[in-house]
Amino acid sequence: MSDIVKERQDEWLPEIEAALDRYTANCGSMHGLLLEAMRYSLLDAGKRIRPVLALEFCRAAGGNPEDAMPFACGVEMIHTYSLIHDDLPCMDNDDMRRGKPSCHVKFGEANALLAGDALQPLAFETMLSGSNLRPDLTVRAACTLAHACGAAGMVGGQMIDLENEGKNVGIDRLRVMDSGKTGAIIKAACVMGVIAADGDDRMIDIAARYAENIGIAFQITDDILDVTSTAEVLGKPVESDIGNAKSTYVSLLGLEKAREEAARHTALAVEAVAPLGEKAEFLARFAEMLARRIK
Ligand code: IPE
Ligand code: IPE
Ligand code: MG
Ligand code: MG
Ligand code: MG
Repeated sequence: MSDIVKERQDEWLPEIEAALDRYTANCGSMHGLLLEAMRYSLLDAGKRIRPVLALEFCRAAGGNPEDAMPFACGVEMIHTYSLIHDDLPCMDNDDMRRGKPSCHVKFGEANALLAGDALQPLAFETMLSGSNLRPDLTVRAACTLAHACGAAGMVGGQMIDLENEGKNVGIDRLRVMDSGKTGAIIKAACVMGVIAADGDDRMIDIAARYAENIGIAFQITDDILDVTSTAEVLGKPVESDIGNAKSTYVSLLGLEKAREEAARHTALAVEAVAPLGEKAEFLARFAEMLARRIK
């Protein structure tokens, strides 16, 4: 891992963890078990890629990254809810997540469903009430995430993912699916970082182009790891995609071509932030680290 990536991750990960802990502890849950299930899935685990992207895009756009912390936590809550639901028996039916039993294995299906449900509005409450930024910026960021996580983004992509099971779909359909289920939330994280810095349209465009490319590369790498890694390293089951007859870059193109595609999109992401010069050092190295990741 490059020095700057390690340095910034060492800086951010404990802060993100503390903020997620605080926001959930004070959420006013009416039920202890519900809060336990929410915190079980959210805390002490996960690579926190999306929150780091929000904080670092805020910095790259000239803002104070701390200002983006409520947005960073909001996007991680949405992401965690998507994982809880993604693992349910009616979806991917995976019994392990983030190195421990999936939420529904630990708490039961209905409680896992509800934990995901509760994380979703908590994300928006966290952003809207936790932000100290100008109200118009806060609202714009919340709208960005709302749009990205619903029918026009993550949920839409998840529906296509289920529809594609057992089918030999074309690469274009796969791209639409991945840019929805995975890319949209990653893009929202990056764009919200720029919004927190009150960045201009050019900066938003740079963030969007970077994110669209790392989003695709990220899902391709996830698909590759599903066939090349182990559950111990990944913290989630392997060969889940084969078991569910998923359409993935690997099933469609094979491992070698999938690797080439991930590398190509990573290079495009690095190119997208190149005009930012030194300010993009972290973002460029981070994209490369994501392509080399082993979990
Ligand atoms: C997993 O995301 C789901 C995908 C979108 C591929 P991550 O690989 O970021 O999972 P965590 O947050 O580190 O657990
Ligand atoms: C999930 O894609 C994307 C989400 C919206 C959660 P996958 O189904 O491939 O993610 P993993 O492999 O279970 O983490
Ligand atoms: Mg899935
Ligand atoms: Mg899955
Ligand atoms: Mg996967």
